[in-house]
Amino acid sequence: MMNLEQIDNKLKEMMTKTRYQHACRVSLLAQKIAEYYNLPIQKTMISALTHDCAKDYSLEELKNLVDKYNIKLNKVEKSIPKIWHAYVGAEMVKDIFMVDDWEILDAIRYHSTASSKLGLIGKIVYIADKIEPNRKLAKIRKLHEKVWEDIDLAMLELLNMELQYLICNKLIIHPDTLKARNKILMDRRVFEIGKIR
Ligand SMILES: [Fe+2]
Ligand SMILES: [Fe+2]
Repeated sequence: MMNLEQIDNKLKEMMTKTRYQHACRVSLLAQKIAEYYNLPIQKTMISALTHDCAKDYSLEELKNLVDKYNIKLNKVEKSIPKIWHAYVGAEMVKDIFMVDDWEILDAIRYHSTASSKLGLIGKIVYIADKIEPNRKLAKIRKLHEKVWEDIDLAMLELLNMELQYLICNKLIIHPDTLKARNKILMDRRVFEIGKIR
């Protein structure tokens, strides 16, 4: 596996400057959250820094990479080009940065749709990506405090927002997003949404 400095240098070649700056903000915030919850810092930072490594490729390039890495997209995934960079990104991180840690790869793979398979590192990347300092929406800003109280509740709020956004804009919902939300509720044995405040 490449070290953080090597990864960082390579990433600058793969991403536009603004995207790279986003990755750095996500990484910095993810690092703070990981420190706070006593989680592996290095793994969290690598996941966060690389999560969008494939985002600056054109759809055509992404399609080629999907073929190159033999990624099997199902019908729903084929209809949502916006999420392709996450699947391709995970394969590139494995291939180019020689990362074989499944927690890191899953964090990247599912940072766009979320997944019931996400562990704490994956959840932190998902959250940090959405609430990094440049995201200015008022309801997102309000979520910042929740992260330090309860990771799952912060994640639940973000999934609720994401699903509302997809519904309001008549966009396809990936089942993984719903499953991720259900998992959080079921883990808490709360089957009625109304019980969570
Ligand atoms: Fe992304
Ligand atoms: Fe991102």
